[in-house]
Amino acid sequence: MTAPKATTPFRHFLDISDLTPAALRAILDDARNRKQARQGWAKAAVDADAPLHGRMLAMIFAKPSTRTRVSFEVGMHQLGGQAIILNSNDMQLNRGETIGDTAQVLSRFVDAIMIRTDDHADVLELAEKADIPVINGLTDDSHPCQIVADIQTFEEHRGDIKGARVAWVGDGNNVCNSFVHAAGLLDFTLSVATPDQLKLSDKVQNWAQENFVTLEQTDDPYAAVENADLVVADTWVSMGDKDAASRHNLLKPYQVDSKLMAAANKDALFMHCLPAHRGEEVTADVIDGPQSVVFDEAENRLHAQKSILVWCANEIDKMADKS
Ligand code: CP
Ligand code: NVA
Repeated sequence: MTAPKATTPFRHFLDISDLTPAALRAILDDARNRKQARQGWAKAAVDADAPLHGRMLAMIFAKPSTRTRVSFEVGMHQLGGQAIILNSNDMQLNRGETIGDTAQVLSRFVDAIMIRTDDHADVLELAEKADIPVINGLTDDSHPCQIVADIQTFEEHRGDIKGARVAWVGDGNNVCNSFVHAAGLLDFTLSVATPDQLKLSDKVQNWAQENFVTLEQTDDPYAAVENADLVVADTWVSMGDKDAASRHNLLKPYQVDSKLMAAANKDALFMHCLPAHRGEEVTADVIDGPQSVVFDEAENRLHAQKSILVWCANEIDKMADKS
């Protein structure tokens, strides 16, 4: 006899581009409320509504992590649940067990899966085969959890991001792709400065065109940051990138230093998803300076992901229905 399929409706969180603007707004509102409700609380306390009481999250990591791992684990605790950390090297996945079988087995044990891996197609396959929500914790294509935290951070400091101008400077990578998706949903302008060899993929450029994103692309970092309300940098060599030396050469002119920051709006914020490399993609005086909000951004991974987890379990809607 096979176990019954999950009867509770649930949702995957695979990419910002899969969401409606209203869903992204609901997640951001819940994250803001949860953060506010915790002011003055002991750090270990469980949220009053404990919406994931008794639930278990499995986290699969095929790549390293500090923020994603800790924020999801602490977040599950604060929601009343627990998390298990699985290094994919220690799993049978590493010895040829299929993603489909892994998805079905984990679906019998836990209530949700977060996965960080290389190939985005593996996350899509996991989601297709699992009977429980799957959350994308970073692939070579995107990093949607990061961008929810980034939007939360921008809005905490500057209000509604609609109509703002965000400048991305450096590699047209996974984090940048998720920024493109968010610009489409929340109506802000994204100006991306990359060397031609590292520009956004055709897939993302096509998505931007089909979804009427106000996306500007240039190879001039100064053109990108002009009138910007937010300047964003990321590592020059992402996890899995093999061409470190040539990337360093190509990206040298894209370092965010105080001169480049001075070319943006006077009150422009600086963000970086971290981990950062001072003296490479950003100078120490910028990342450790007054315009930088990188540690608020890191903290908001916790609040944003709690709301993503709750949204995946449909609890945000249930709470909204009650009010
Ligand atoms: N920004 C981010 O995802 O950090 P980790 O790689 O430490 O999880
Ligand atoms: N672009 C970076 C983000 C790290 C959180 C990477 O993929 O390594």
